[in-house]
Formats: sequence, C-alpha cells, structure tokens
Amino acid sequence: MCGIIGYTGSENVKEVLLDALELLEYRGYDSAGIAVMEENEIQVYKRAGRVKDLREKCAGKAENSVCGIGHTRWATHGGVNDTNAHPHQVGRVTLVHNGIIENYRELIADYDLKEKLQSETDSEVVAALLDRFYEGNPEETIKKTVSKLKGTFALVIMFADHAGVIYSTRNVSPIVATLCKEGAMLASDLTALCRFTNNYFVVPEYHILEMKEDSIKLTDFDGNEKEPEYLTADWELNSAGKNGYPFYMEKEIMEQPDAIERTIANRIVSGMPDFTAEGVPDSLFTECDRINIIACGTAMHAGLVAQALVKSILHMHIDVDMASEFMYSDPVIDEKTLVIAVSQSGETIDTLEAVKYARRRGAKCLSIINVKGSSIARESDYVLYTNAGPEIAVASTKAYTTQLSIFYLIVAKMAQLRGVYDTEQTQSFIRELQRTPEVMKKVLEKRRDIHVLANKVLSAKDLFMIGRGLDHSILLEGSLKLKEVSYIHSEAYASGELKHGPIALITQDTPVVASVTQEKLMSKELSNIKEVRSRGADIVLFIKESLAEDIDSQYQTFLLPDMRDEFMVMPASVALQLLAYYVSSDKGFDVDKPRNLAKVVTVE
Ligand code: M6R
Repeated sequence: MCGIIGYTGSENVKEVLLDALELLEYRGYDSAGIAVMEENEIQVYKRAGRVKDLREKCAGKAENSVCGIGHTRWATHGGVNDTNAHPHQVGRVTLVHNGIIENYRELIADYDLKEKLQSETDSEVVAALLDRFYEGNPEETIKKTVSKLKGTFALVIMFADHAGVIYSTRNVSPIVATLCKEGAMLASDLTALCRFTNNYFVVPEYHILEMKEDSIKLTDFDGNEKEPEYLTADWELNSAGKNGYPFYMEKEIMEQPDAIERTIANRIVSGMPDFTAEGVPDSLFTECDRINIIACGTAMHAGLVAQALVKSILHMHIDVDMASEFMYSDPVIDEKTLVIAVSQSGETIDTLEAVKYARRRGAKCLSIINVKGSSIARESDYVLYTNAGPEIAVASTKAYTTQLSIFYLIVAKMAQLRGVYDTEQTQSFIRELQRTPEVMKKVLEKRRDIHVLANKVLSAKDLFMIGRGLDHSILLEGSLKLKEVSYIHSEAYASGELKHGPIALITQDTPVVASVTQEKLMSKELSNIKEVRSRGADIVLFIKESLAEDIDSQYQTFLLPDMRDEFMVMPASVALQLLAYYVSSDKGFDVDKPRNLAKVVTVE
C-alpha cells in the first residue's frame, strides 16, 4: 500500500514524479504529494485527493528542481487530509514512507518528539527522529534511526544540505531502483520505472541506497558496498498504459487470451506440462502428501478452483487458507507439505508472512506470482511467473485467469507424475487448456450481451450468486469482483445451502446471478434457481451452451461457449468480470480505483 517514488536526473523532476505517481496511484489514492529540491531548499506540495489534484496544485511551480520524492497514500494512521499526506518535513529531513511503524508512540515519548509533529501519522515520527539524530552524516543517521524502528518500512529521504541526493532504506515494504540514461530512480514497484527502462534491482532489506544523478551506491549496515543485482522485466515499456480503453480493468479483461497464451506457451513441451526451465523438480510434486494453498482475495479464489480440481482429479488432501488466518490456525504443515502461495503483486504481507511461517515449519514453497523479483518470489523455493504483464486496475482479472492456467498445468503435471493420467490423458487435458484463449475470445466478442445483462442488476442493493461445485468457486470470485467495483452487496452461496437460511433474504428486489457449467450438477442447480425464481428473484443465468436446452425464457441468459467441465471456469470468469465492469462503469464509478481499496496490501 502507498506508492513511493524518488528521482534525480536530467528530466523535469516534477513531471517525472507526477507521471510516476499516476502510475503508482493504484497502490493508494487517499492523498498525494511531492517534495522537490531546488538548490538547498526543499518545497513540499501535497493534498488529499488524487494525483490530478496535486498536479493542479503544482502547476507553474517547481520547474527547476534537481531531485525529488513523491507518495500516494492509503491511509493507516490518521485521517485523509492535507496534513497527513506525505511527504513529511521535519527540520532538515523530508521523507516519504510506506509501511507501519508499530512503536511510533514509544518513539514520540522516548525522544520527546511531540512538539515537532503536525500530523497524526507514524511516518512523520520517523522524519522527526531522523532530524533529531542528524549531525551531517546521512548514512549514520539512517542506521541509528532504523535501529529504533519496529515495523515495516520503505523510506525515501532527502536531507536539506545534500542537494541532488536521495537516500532510501527498507524492511519488508518493497523498493526497486535503477540507474538509466535519464538518471537514478526508485519506486515501490516497477510500473513506475517501466517508462524509462526494463532493468531494475530490488533494494535489499536493511541496506542504504544513495542515489545521485549519475550514480547509485548500495551499502549494507556495516558499511560494505554491494553490487546491485539487476533483473530484467519482460513487460513492454508501454504496457502499463490504457491503450485507448476508458479503464485499465476493461483493457486487462480484454488482454486475457494473450496473457494466458504467454503463461502456458513455454511450459508445454510435446503436449506435456513442463517446468524444467524454471528448475521445478518433479520430486516437488511426487514427494508431498498434502497441499496447502495460501493467498488472499482473488488469488485465494484461484486456489479454491485448484482445490476442486485437485480433489476430483488427484484425490489428494488439499487445504486453501486465507493467508491472513494461516499461521494463527495451527495449520498441519510439515516436510511432506507442498505449500503453493499465489499472489499477483508478490508483496501481500499476509501471504509473505505465511510463506515464511510454512518454510520455517519445513514445507517446500512453490509460488505463483506476477511481479518478477517480488518479496514472495524471493522467499519461495520455486516460482512460476504468470506473465500477465502489469495489472493496474485494483480489481484483479488477468492475474486470476493466468493463475488458474498455471494451476491447470500443475494439476496435469501431478496427474501424470502420480500415475492418475497416462500420456494421452495428460495431453488431452493440456490441449483443452490450449483452447482457452480462443474460447475466451468468443466471450469477449459477445461482451455487448453481457452489458445488457449488467443493466438488469444495476439498481440492486443486494444480490446473490448461486452455483454448486466449481460453479460456486467461480461465483465467489464473480461476487468479489462485483462488490469491489460496483458497491452492490453481493454474496456467493453454494446453491444447496440457500435453503438453510439465506433464502429468507430473497425478494423481488434481490436479483440472483447463477452459473451452470457442470453437467453432473446441472439438474440440482436448475432446481435451486427455480426455488429463488418462485420467490420473486430476477435471474441472470450464465450457462454452458450445450446444457442450455429448455431454459426458462424469463431468465436473462448468457450462453458460455463449451469446454470440458473442468475448464468452464475460464469463460465463466471472463463473463462475470465483464458483468462487474459494466455495472461499475454504467454507474459512473472510477472503476480502476474503488473506494477504500489499494492494489497492493502491504499492511497486516
Ligand atoms: O497481489 P495479491 O494477488 O497477493 O493480492 C491479493 C488480493 O489483495 C487481491 O486479489 C484483491 O482481492 C483484489 N482487489 C481483488 O480484485
């Protein structure tokens, strides 16, 4: 949460910072601010609201800066207002911070900082402490200050008497940095750097980064200079733009066929799943006797689909845990457990902590991640990257379906290795996976029909989504999508459970979205739909085309192109994503930045 940027170089500093903040805004959009240095003076511009509001505030100002730092905030400590916005300036120190300083109250008391503070934030306390310790040596001051901090932090700091120099250090909260022909820059994620370069390095924890216009120096806390370990992002330089779409969410939904193609193409050799390029050994899949998937939100929903597949195809014990609950639930984990962590950002703190916990307990961890070199990727034994490209909309879409496509590969691999599938069965499963981009395209081509369906639920205050088995798993995700971008209260229920309570809430004002894609469950699902229809609910039905004979004409129906039942998740997910998208955009909401949310959740 919170986006941070630092830049020193030959370009217009203010513009670089503001453009970067726009790209990072998905990490938090309660307020935005920049601090720019002109000779030995640092000017701060900040305000509650969006980066575009900040841009207006800075118009015509700060044109000759030599370096600067910036921040978009997702509020934790202190309300959303101008004072609590970053950067914070105390004496000679100006900083931006991402993370949480747990002991900020003790620090205020121990170092008598109260008089120096104007905001309610934990971050300003760090600025005050740095200023208290500062005697002209930035590195020593940073080390001394950090030694007093408890919590997570990515700090980017300017000292008023060090013109053109930016310092940074971190614990847990991420920072990536680079030196390129336009200068030196750092950011909380690489979306902000991609405009300039694909080469970047992750700033290691408890190191100090010093950035000047034409140099970067990385030292550990013992003063040893370290060579940055550069990585290359395979994201296209301009792939973080909207490409003419009104919202990133629509663009990212439309990108899914290509994203899946990219994700699976190099992992299929002679029609068989293959992870040798990633160094994932077969023993990882043969020596485990149970699987634990840990993830949050949409990534966890991908895990629930995987759970259904693993149970029905592999007949193995598999749990899916919310990462935030995992280590507090005394999970059964040992050396025979394969932990699969799933995360788009690779920075979700709950998932990161859960991975560390599982590995301490002896489990091997394979992670499915979108962002290269991210914290979870680095903490894992093995990584399979989803290759979805940058996902900017807060609502996750292409990350989810690419995560699913990796799960299909894993299931196929395990089925083959464990003797559940022979070669022909494995290849047939993989051939069906290879069809998904084409099948998804068919749904995307009919998106106008889904737009019409969206109108049927537009004015709903409450809504239910019902289905059984894999349909239920799909709808959990569809329901999350709808509620996060449209603010309609939506609940996904296993349709058989409805009669055990929730059916009491069904009225003619409660539309019901149903998914029917599994042949063996179809007749029961259709009966459950009739039950809610009899109680007045309008029905929006997503049904596999070949199952759609004799459907009640009163239902608003969308036919999903046929795949094997195990794969119907793919077209159904796209349809549900589009439903949520159109409801939100038709309501006039800022689809990409739903209220109260942030793309990357780096606080517990
Ligand atoms: O980056 P991660 O995949 O770890 O993020 C997990 C969740 O925070 C994320 O999926 C969230 O639920 C999305 N907003 C859903 O659209």
